[in-house]
Amino acid sequence: MDGVMARLREAASYVESKIGKEVPAIGMILGSGLGDLANELTDAIAVPYRQIPHFPVSTVPGHAGRLVAGTLAGKRVLVMQGRFHYYEGYSMDTVVFPVQMMRVMGITNLLVTNAAGCVNTAWQPGDLMLICDHIKLIADNPMRGANIEELGERFFDMSTAYPERLRAMARKEASRLGMTLREGVYQLFTGPSFETPAEVRFARACGADAVGMSTVPEVIAARHAGMEVLGISCLTNMAAGILDQPLNHHEVLETGERVKSSFSALVKAITAAWPA
Ligand code: HPA
Repeated sequence: MDGVMARLREAASYVESKIGKEVPAIGMILGSGLGDLANELTDAIAVPYRQIPHFPVSTVPGHAGRLVAGTLAGKRVLVMQGRFHYYEGYSMDTVVFPVQMMRVMGITNLLVTNAAGCVNTAWQPGDLMLICDHIKLIADNPMRGANIEELGERFFDMSTAYPERLRAMARKEASRLGMTLREGVYQLFTGPSFETPAEVRFARACGADAVGMSTVPEVIAARHAGMEVLGISCLTNMAAGILDQPLNHHEVLETGERVKSSFSALVKAITAAWPA
């Protein structure tokens, strides 16, 4: 337990030594396709993951591995350009290390984005979905093991993991931009295999609107540490079995690319409107 806190503090101190002590207003984890947004920060300072003590290193092609601090839409932000996925072989502890480090740095707001498969048949690839809740059926949990008392309590509430206050703000910004913003439940699958058609039917029966391979561990760790979270999925493809066609990563990247500019515009509007 002490070991984790010591590692988190060491990583946080290193990042602070590079970006300065001013606490960023929002931490951001940008998923497939949106990473480029980090290049739009002004006064940007990038810190490669491999230089940060105890930080994991990203293995997925297309995921740059660095933290970028700077100003976006008038707010100081700290962006993770590239995230860590459970399917890469990292333990859940490792997947959430960066979020916990952000909290140790004093960051209390977290914006997470991801690419996801669309389970809701009334929606379409390219739609953006505000995450209102999630389902984690897999047994592992990032907070399993000795509780990190300095960050939060052993047992913690998940009923307001995606607070309505922030979702209302996001809805308002989307409507101001004339964008459609879906809202629904994200279900975590470990990947890296895409789901089977039966698993997608199962997810739908469970109440899921989207399926994906990320985000849930980070949100659990963020909630444990008392952070406020807003999550948005880019529904890059219809989930398996809905259309008569196989799934592939190319489609995920292609749709991500197609909606990148509107997704970025929404993220910037949300950043500007995020309550202090
Ligand atoms: N399933 C899981 N993860 C995903 C998908 C999907 O269909 N699309 C993008 N990420």
